Amino acid sequence: MSTTSKRKGGPKDARSRFGFHSPPFSRELPIDRRFQLPHVEETIDAIHQTVLQRESAALIAPAGSGKTVAVRALKERLPAARFNVHYVKVSDVSKRDMCRELAYAIGARPVGAFPALVRAVQEHFDKPVAEAEGTRPELILDDVHEMRSETLGLVKLLTNFDMDSRLVVSFVLVGHPSLRRILQRDDLEDVARRVAHYAELRLLSREETRRYVEHRCTAAGNLTPPFDDDAFEAIYELSRGNLRAIDGLARKALELAAARNGTSSARRT
Ligand SMILES: Nc1ncnc2c1ncn2[C@@H]1O[C@H](COP(=O)(O)OP(=O)(O)O)[C@@H](O)[C@H]1O
Ligand SMILES: [Mg+2]
Repeated sequence: MSTTSKRKGGPKDARSRFGFHSPPFSRELPIDRRFQLPHVEETIDAIHQTVLQRESAALIAPAGSGKTVAVRALKERLPAARFNVHYVKVSDVSKRDMCRELAYAIGARPVGAFPALVRAVQEHFDKPVAEAEGTRPELILDDVHEMRSETLGLVKLLTNFDMDSRLVVSFVLVGHPSLRRILQRDDLEDVARRVAHYAELRLLSREETRRYVEHRCTAAGNLTPPFDDDAFEAIYELSRGNLRAIDGLARKALELAAARNGTSSARRT
């Protein structure tokens, strides 16, 4: 057990003090217990439809706005019997590893050094594949704005084939707003052309922020969230509806309230 979790006012203290059975604002979120906002669910639906039509999509929004959770929910919707869904967080992936991921996704052999891998992927694309032969490859690339350009160039492999007769990989590119600029680069024209649907996620409103906090408290076992009106207002003012910021502020408020030990709620200080 870490010293942080033992200290007074630490996460454990806050959990037991407020009757949570699990950490209320942690990243480890069972996807079926996510907070479902209509506009986010519509965004997931639209990307889902795009993928069903064998086309590709981009999901572009600032850090902390719920992109990764949204694509995890999308993944759940694509049945394994029909889709070979591959989720790759690209931030630290080397050119070779990225190529291995591509090979996995399309069912080519993911072995060998980089040039052999590229050949394997290309050869795989060169043979026409009947629908009945297998599951449809679906590649979700997260944090694409952090992808090195040499690796991003590999995504072009996916676009170098005739879509009518050959294996079609559809991909979902997920990233920060800078991804838009990246996709405008001349050398990525082919990739950008394949993006049939661009989606965004907005920040939560004041009311949504409150419902989100309540939802996460309830999901963690506390049916009467220990936040008063002032605390909700402060969380909204400081986070401006950014989910990751809300999580951090709510966690901190609970820890401070637990450390004070007397008051019944995580009040604004
Ligand atoms: N639908 C949701 N339900 C519950 N929590 C969510 C939801 N979307 C995001 N979160 C919370 O917000 C945090 C940030 O979301 P994330 O999807 O990682 O953002 P992004 O990928 O845009 O940076 C997550 O770790 C999670 O705690
Ligand atoms: Mg993310």
